[in-house]
Parts: sequence; C-alpha cells; structure tokens
Amino acid sequence: MSEELLRLNKLCVDYKVKDGYLSAVKDVSFSINKGEIFAIVGESGCGKSTIAHSILHLLPEHNEIIKGNIFFNGEDINQYTDKQLESIRGKEIGMIFQNPIDSLNPVYTTGFQVAEGIMLDNVSKTEAWNRVIKLYNDVKMPDAEKRAQSFPHELSGGMRQRVMIAMMLARTPKLLIADEPTTALDVTIEAQILNIIKSLRDEYNTAVMLITHNFGLVAEVADNVAVMYAGEILEQGTVFDIFDNPKHPYTKLLMKALPRKTKKEGRLQTIDGNVPRLTNDKPGCRFENRCPYAMDICKSNDAEKIMVTESHSFNCHMGGVDKQ
Ligand SMILES: Nc1ncnc2c1ncn2[C@@H]1O[C@H](COP(=O)(O)OP(=O)(O)OP(=O)(O)O)[C@@H](O)[C@H]1O
Ligand SMILES: [Mg+2]
Repeated sequence: MSEELLRLNKLCVDYKVKDGYLSAVKDVSFSINKGEIFAIVGESGCGKSTIAHSILHLLPEHNEIIKGNIFFNGEDINQYTDKQLESIRGKEIGMIFQNPIDSLNPVYTTGFQVAEGIMLDNVSKTEAWNRVIKLYNDVKMPDAEKRAQSFPHELSGGMRQRVMIAMMLARTPKLLIADEPTTALDVTIEAQILNIIKSLRDEYNTAVMLITHNFGLVAEVADNVAVMYAGEILEQGTVFDIFDNPKHPYTKLLMKALPRKTKKEGRLQTIDGNVPRLTNDKPGCRFENRCPYAMDICKSNDAEKIMVTESHSFNCHMGGVDKQ
C-alpha cells in the first residue's frame, strides 16, 4: 500500500510587487507518496520554484502571502515556525538547487561540508568521513577519496551536483526536492545524475519532487506528473496519462510541440503568445488568451476539475470534449 508523504492543499502564493500582488501560485493541490518520483513541468516563471521554496519556508520574508496547507507526514508544516521547520529541513526534506556552486562554501573541502551534515546526528568525525566516501561512491563520484578533499571550484558542474546529492542523502531525507537539478549539465551527465536519483529512490525509498522543463527527464524517471501554467496546475496524472492521453489543450499543445521521434527527449517548447502577468487575481482560465479553443466562459469562470480516472485530472471548460 502506498503511503502519502506530502500533500499540498490549495496552496496560493502572492508576491508583493510594485503595483500590487503577483499571484505566482494559485490553488495548487497534489500529493506525493513515499518512494514516488513526482515531476512538476512548466515554462519558465510558472511558479515551480515558488512551490519548492514554500515547502521549506525559503521564500523572501515579508514579501509574500501564503495560503493553503502543506501536509508533511500528516502535519501542516505551513503553520510551523521557522524554528520548528529547522528540524525538518535537511533531515526530513532535502533540496537540490539548480546551481550547486551557490550552495557550497568555497573555503571548505566538499567532503568536509558533507561530513558536517552527518555530524549533526552525533556521529564521530572518523565515522562521518567514512560515510562521505561511501556516499561519494554511491553518487558515482570519480576518484571519491581525492574529490572529498577538493574545494568546490576544483570540481566540474556534474561533480558539484553529485556533492549536493551526497549532502542531501547523508541524512537520508524522506523527500528530496530537486529544482532543475540537471539544467546546468550536459546531456550525458544529466542522464547519469537522474539514474543516481532513481537508484537512490529504489534503495532508500526516498520520494522525489523533480522540477523541470525537460519532458525527456519526466518520461525517463517520473511516476506522476503535474503540468503547470501561470501558477496553476492544469493537468496531472501518471506519466502514461500525460504522454499518451493528454486532455488539457495546453498539455496537448506541449505534446504536439515535441518533435515526434524525439518526444521523450524533447525540451519544453514555447507556444504562441505570452504568459499573462497576474497582479490581480481575476477569475477565469489563465491559459485562455493562448488557447485555440477558448470560449467566453473561459474568460470569466474558473474551470472545474475533471477526473478522467482516479489518477488523471485536468481543469478545462472544454470538459471531456476531445478536440485535437
Ligand atoms: N521574490 C519575488 N518577488 C516577486 N516576484 C517573484 C519573486 N520570486 C519569483 N517571482 C515571480 O513569481 C513567478 C514564479 O516564479 P518562479 O521562480 O516560481 O518560477 P519557475 O517556474 O521556477 O521559473 P524557472 O523555470 O525560470 O525557474 C514569476 O513571475 C516570478 O517573476
Ligand atoms: Mg525555478
């Protein structure tokens, strides 16, 4: 029986901007089970990182309004104080950022930085160092012992990302949030890093929230997918639901835009029109101005969620009408 680990319930995040509030995330709900790889895909600026940062209370302070619930192991961590959250950050929920150089301290060896995290759990220095070497081998770091003694600037981008993954795994978190973990890497290294994430999931039953705009990665590793547009999830389902039976016009357009033969390797293409900037939270579908099937009702009313199957849902006034 799969057990629920994380559940977002109607998460809304508004950023304070010069001319009011920008609705960056609106009514986002989804859940991730233990050991599941859940991908969030969407164009740049659609709110993916905002969701990740809300979970770990990493949003800039006093600059946003967050509403809704973030249940982790059944507790609403959105209500936690920063101090309460401190006990979860790193230990229960780890995060890999897009650019690992920003997250590593330039003046310490990478091995020392990984060992520091391990020693937080009252582990001796020698034992921590042994674990670092084991982790470096787990993440397929070439020449593990030597690399543990290297400084961040002495490593390649792929090696640094391996350090970040080792650092997260050192504390065997139940959930790993990977925000575009491979964007800065070339394709072969990207594939290796994803295989590591996948095999670690298999070994430790770690759940992974994988944020990406690369559909190839999604097809390769994810179990379930949420498709985001302008702060909202428009469709979610299993990888098979999304790739083989997309229902929302936006998902369909995205799928069409992927080159046929290389569908599973394709990056998210941009489609005509601009993502609206939502400073006032007007009702209606946010994709309406780019949707080939838009109707009057789409401008004025939010679309209800339609369940295709127990695992597959989408929000659209077109309902089940299957226009191509
Ligand atoms: N601190 C902030 N203050 C004001 N607006 C912000 C802030 N951070 C993000 N935004 C805006 O919120 C929206 C969502 O941004 P977010 O970084 O979550 O997008 P994203 O999907 O992660 O994009 P990318 O794929 O480029 O990383 C964007 O319109 C962005 O400009
Ligand atoms: Mg982002």
